[in-house]
This record gives sequence, C-alpha cells and structure tokens, in this order.
Amino acid sequence: MDMSIKQKTLDLKKRMQGALLGGGVKAIEKQQSMGKMTARERIIALLDPNSFHEYDLFVEHAARDFDMDKKHLPGDGVITGTGTISGFPVCIYAQDFTVAGGSLGIMHARKISKIMDHAMNLKIPIIGINDSGGARIQEGVNSLAGYGEIFYRNTQASGVIPQISVILGPCAGGAVYSPALTDFVFVVDKISKMFITGPEVIKSVLGEEITMEELGGARVHSEITGNAHFFAESEQECLNQIKKLVSYIPWNNTKKADAFPKKAPKSRQYKIENIIPTDPREPYDVRDVIRSISDDSDFFEVQELFAANMVIGFGRINGETVGFVANQPLVLAGVLDVDSSDKAARFIRFCNAFNIPLVTLVDLPGYLPGIDQEHAGVIRHGAKILYSYSEASVPKITIILRKAYGGGYIAMCSRHLRADFVFAWPTAEIAVMGPEGAANIIFRNEIKNAEDPDKVRREKVEEYKKKFANPYVAAAHGYIDAVIEPSETRKFVVHALEVSSQKSELRPQKKHGIPPF
Ligand code: HXC
Repeated sequence: MDMSIKQKTLDLKKRMQGALLGGGVKAIEKQQSMGKMTARERIIALLDPNSFHEYDLFVEHAARDFDMDKKHLPGDGVITGTGTISGFPVCIYAQDFTVAGGSLGIMHARKISKIMDHAMNLKIPIIGINDSGGARIQEGVNSLAGYGEIFYRNTQASGVIPQISVILGPCAGGAVYSPALTDFVFVVDKISKMFITGPEVIKSVLGEEITMEELGGARVHSEITGNAHFFAESEQECLNQIKKLVSYIPWNNTKKADAFPKKAPKSRQYKIENIIPTDPREPYDVRDVIRSISDDSDFFEVQELFAANMVIGFGRINGETVGFVANQPLVLAGVLDVDSSDKAARFIRFCNAFNIPLVTLVDLPGYLPGIDQEHAGVIRHGAKILYSYSEASVPKITIILRKAYGGGYIAMCSRHLRADFVFAWPTAEIAVMGPEGAANIIFRNEIKNAEDPDKVRREKVEEYKKKFANPYVAAAHGYIDAVIEPSETRKFVVHALEVSSQKSELRPQKKHGIPPF
C-alpha cells in the first residue's frame, strides 16, 4: 500500500534522525570527552541561527573491501551545506570524526568537491573544518583520488573566492595539503594536530621520539612553521575569530569587502605623537601606530605569533577594509628575514587578489645579515616581498616612520615598486645603510689615519646623518610625496584612499608570473 504524504514525511524525519546522529551516542561522547564539539555543533555555532542548510545527508560510502559493505557510515563522515555568518554567505563542510574517524573515502571527497564547486559557482567563500584520520585506509587509491580532486579545486579557487581552513582535530598525511593551499588556517591549542608523517613513523624510520603536540600542535604551526594564521585557546574562540575575519573580506575577487560605519580612532589611548620614542634607537610597538590611524583603533592581526618582526592584519579606514603591513621595531628591530618576507608576501597577494588596499608602515634597518639567513635562502624568500608588492595593483599607501635603509627601503612598498602615495614623517631616515656603518666604510681611511680616530668617526657619522638620515633628500627627488606630521597620518591616508577608489593599473598580459616560491 502506498504511504501517505504524512507517512512519507515521518519516514524522512526518521531517516534524518538516524543520519544526524553521525557515528552514534558513544562516539559523540568520546568526541566530547576530548573537549571537542561535534562537526554539526561546530557548524551551528559558527553560522547565523537557523541559517544552515545541509545537503547530501543521505550520501553513502561505496567501499566493499575489508567488510566495508557491512558498515553504514552516515553522510560518509562529512557534513556539507551553505549558511551565513552575520549575513555573509558561505559554503561550508565539517568532517565528522565520530564516523570512521572522519576518514576520507571517495564519497566523502565527492561531497567536499561538490560543495567547493558550489562555492566557486555561487562566488562565495568556502570554509572547511578538518577533523580526520586522513585517507580511508580501506578505500585505497580511491581516497587518494579524492584528495587530488580537492587539491585541484583549492588551486582553481585560489584568488577567486576566499578559502578558510579550520583544524579541529587530526589532519595528517597528505590531508594537510588542502589547508596549506587555502588562504587562512585556524588552529586551537591542544586540539589541532597537523603533520605529514606522525610520531610513530618518525620513530620507526629515524628512531626519534616526539609527541603529536610537539610535532604538529597548534603552537608549533602558529609560532614555528607559520602554517597557521590564527591561534585560539578554545573552539569557541576560534569560531569567533572566523566570524571576525569574514567581516573584513569580500565574497569573491570581483567585489570589495562590505563597508562599515566610519569611526574615529580612540585618540586618547593611541596618541600618535606619544608612540614613537625620541631616541631613534629605542623600540616601540608599531601596532599602536596602526591603532592610532584605524577606525575605532581596531586591528585584526594575522599570524601574530609567527615572524613577529613583521606585523600584518586587517583594519578599517573610514569604514573600508585595508591590509596593514608593518615592520615591528619591538622584534629584531623590524628586520626583513626569510620568515617575515614570506609572511608579508602571502598577505600582500591575498589583499591584492581580493581588492583590499595596502597600507605599509616602514621602520627597518634592512635585511637580516647572517650565515643562517643566507643559507636558509633569504635571497629567494626576500624576493617574494618585492614580487608581491610590484605585482599588486590595489591602492598602495606607504608611510616611512623612521628607518628605511637599503634593500628594506625598496622592499617595503617604495615608490619604485609603484606605491601610489609615499609619505614620510620628519623622523624618517632614508639611506643606503645606517650612519655608523656608512661612515665606517666611506671614511675608512680618514678615520684610520686620524690622530683621534674615535673623534673623527663621530664627526663623520654626524656628517652622514645630516646629509642622509632625513626624509628631505628622498623628497627632493620626488621619491616621497609629502613629509607629514605624525598627527596628520590618518588624514593623509583617508584622503589617499578616497582618491584611489577607482584606481586601475594594467599589468603585462601573461599566463601567470613566476614568483620566487
Ligand atoms: C579508516 C580510520 C582512519 C583511517 C581513523 N579511523 N583513521 N578508518 N581510515 N585513516 C577510524 C578508526 O579505525 C576508529 O574506528 C575511528 O576512526 C576512531 O579512530 P581512533 O583511532 O579510535 O581515534 P583516536 O584514538 O582519537 O586516534 C585518531 C588518529 C588515529 C590519531 C587519527 O585514528 C590514526 O592514527 N589514524 C590513522 C592515521 C593515518 O595514518 N591516516 C592515513 C594518513 S595517509 P572504530 O571503528 O574503531 O571506531 C594519508 C594520505 C593522504 O592521509 C594522501 C593525500 C595526497
């Protein structure tokens, strides 16, 4: 006898209830005992209330070997759908560790690929929550094929829609390469674990012992490898960080990020004249300068714990998102090195791809000298920052606060790399190198042959300082557009952004460039 609509609806509800339980009560309890939310809880907590629409709930795995034909894996271990975050539309997937350890079989991979294709067609960001034992061992090459399909899509989507990866559990083996191909990776202390080969393989091959946490925990990827962009103490904090990030970025590469109401900086707390010390050798926190010019003194820092001699992140000026790139005099005097070049270059490329103007704050003694740096490839990595600034066609505004020496001057979005506006404070020093080093080289003989070499050295340093340690030589050549008072910085940046809102700058036609990866 045919079922009535009511009976069919009840049947649907029953089927859904089964699928919604994922790996079952016991597996959910195990997940919660590890301090982790379930995949569905994570999606619900991230998205606006009642905005999540799930698809492919009834997808089943297709494996037959190793008794897999007798196993039922609800949704094949991954939840996919669409929703909104503060009204901002996203495609999302979350691997469900309660179902076969969130392992990736071919149907699981097809669900992810399908929602990624949706994101590309709908031109909205994709968020992937990773919590998985990796390739489903029973499915052999099929699960490897599934990963390949995802990596290909990550690459096609790069620079077209924002891609966000959240690591909320293990992410091992080749599985790490999907997050690595995306724009932002979020990790949570004690919960996220990422590595190519785990502790057991390392022990059997190399005899070295290490815990998962020490090998690829959240801190390791936030502080040492730079694979992670945002570090959180808890899953909830991580979800809040994602919500904040999406408020700064656009839906896709044809749009601008949503504008917010204009707000003045908190001028009492961040008074620009009081931030920079009188002694040019004394450090200060460049983030205070950023806060002194950004709306509401808000600054959302990216990769805060990695290569801290470079500060990158988002803020707003007159309601519009900008990307800040700044040397940090508090750490290694703000030098450029392998990691800080890498960090800045990638961020500059993200901003350029997604129509976010760049505001660069300069105060650095140059590239870091040393055998370690040379052998770690500072030539290749340092070139990335030159490449990404030169390539960027979004509005580029540069402010030289203090030191801008040598290659550092050129690299930090100088006029020569096509900054649209270069401003300098009266405290700026623009020269090939610091006065001490310069005087020692060009006046070497005079100093050596002097009766009182120390006195002559001091005089020569002063002479060099007078000549070059100021912004006026560069201003005389038109390399900077205006020497401005520190308190006028926001005014100049606001104006520069206003007049550049229609900027369009052509680049030579090519398939793609070949940056020094
Ligand atoms: C099939 C898997 C699985 C996998 C976990 N499970 N990983 N099933 N394939 N890769 C299953 C377990 O059998 C178990 O099933 C359930 O998930 C929960 O796993 P547990 O081991 O009980 O959980 P836990 O103790 O928390 O340990 C988590 C873990 C561990 C560290 C991730 O499961 C693990 O080491 N898994 C294997 C990791 C791995 O080597 N993966 C392959 C990487 S190579 P039951 O039925 O008992 O509940 C790879 C290549 C990709 O990914 C290449 C792409 C280019």
